[in-house]
Amino acid sequence: MLRIRLEEDECVNIEGCAEVRILDGRGEIFGAPVERGKSIRVPYAKAIPYYALSTSELEIEGGRISSIPGYYVPRQWEVAVGEIATRRKPVKIMIVGDIDSGKSTLTTYIANKLFSMGFKVAVVDSDVGQSNIGPPCTIGLGIMRNHIISLEEIPLIDAYFLGSNTPAGLFHKMITGVVMMMREALRHNADVVLVDTTGWIKDEQGMILKINKAKAIEPDLVIVLEEEYSMLAHFVKVVSEITDVLRLPRGFVRPRNRNERKKIRQNAYRRYMRGGKKISVSLKSVKILEGSILTGIIHVIKQGKFKIYYEVSGNSVRVYAANRLNKEIWNMIKGKHSNVLNANVLNKENIRNLLIGIYNGDKRFMGIGILQDVDFDDKKIEIYTPVDPRYIKYLEVGRIKISPVTLTEIGRCIL
Ligand SMILES: Nc1ncnc2c1ncn2[C@@H]1O[C@H](COP(=O)(O)OP(=O)(O)O)[C@@H](O)[C@H]1O
Ligand SMILES: [Mg+2]
Repeated sequence: MLRIRLEEDECVNIEGCAEVRILDGRGEIFGAPVERGKSIRVPYAKAIPYYALSTSELEIEGGRISSIPGYYVPRQWEVAVGEIATRRKPVKIMIVGDIDSGKSTLTTYIANKLFSMGFKVAVVDSDVGQSNIGPPCTIGLGIMRNHIISLEEIPLIDAYFLGSNTPAGLFHKMITGVVMMMREALRHNADVVLVDTTGWIKDEQGMILKINKAKAIEPDLVIVLEEEYSMLAHFVKVVSEITDVLRLPRGFVRPRNRNERKKIRQNAYRRYMRGGKKISVSLKSVKILEGSILTGIIHVIKQGKFKIYYEVSGNSVRVYAANRLNKEIWNMIKGKHSNVLNANVLNKENIRNLLIGIYNGDKRFMGIGILQDVDFDDKKIEIYTPVDPRYIKYLEVGRIKISPVTLTEIGRCIL
């Protein structure tokens, strides 16, 4: 346990995991006012700065401490706050930058400052790999009710299940999801909608995605966080043709490596799977909305006392069987469905542990789950989830596999 004293205008940075207690004084953390009596948990692989507005005394347990000279975020970040505050409402802002450039921190800072001014602030978190609002692999929408230290504290209003921790191969869904969450934010009469994004921006693919996202949501302003202006110059040039751009310098950042990112996701899965159990839902009452399996029409072929189930989806077939397809069965399928060109055999292992998104009868996001088994004979599907079975009406099957035991990502799978 460590006690430190800060004079007015001094700033200390605390790296997690740590517990901080403000014993005396007033300060600011990412634009949020904090004062005596407040305790703050600094999460794993993250850093939180305390900026003293008056002489302060802090008690710190764990973590690493360093001092930050001057104000804790670049003073230019204030320009963004002023710019957004004076624009006609509702105002839509998109925040882009490289991985670990401080996008979520800037989003937090702007959100707090605008909240203090009395605006209704919504955040669309489209960073599916390092989600703060909503579970990993989803695009979350939150609306602020209080000042926040981290975006995670914003109450979740709705989410869109992308089904992967990267938008790679899912650009269409990423854009649909961001547009849907933006629409929902505006339906809630948000004055300001801040869209946080993934750090995939430097190569051409990432840039194309961001440009198209901007075209779809029509932001009033795109804020670009950059270290060296040249790095994102191409993006800035193109997006400037679409809307206004504000370029801001990066602040102090605690970078995260691959393992830390994975661990952060694991913690998030644990949080959203808490209280999970294995449940069985009827395939008759639950519909599969999207995903690469179970959305097509299910057919059956009888072979003696065995039944073989298969799904026709466009001109491909997925056969749910333990073994490879024999010629006889393939011919039977071809005979019934002349347009079918290829078949793919899926056994129980192939589909076990796929991440799923769960929606209720009004197609509102209810949570995530893990697919365990599909029993075509008994027409039921087994899933591991904390969601109450009464609210499970629609499912979407994702591309990530999660262990229901350790709640870690165990693979990626496109069926
Ligand atoms: N100005 C700052 N002072 C202290 N820590 C910061 C600052 N800006 C960012 N960080 C820390 O750096 C880490 C990465 O920043 P983050 O905003 O999550 O990056 P990104 O969203 O671009 O991946 C976070 O732990 C955050 O707390
Ligand atoms: Mg982020």
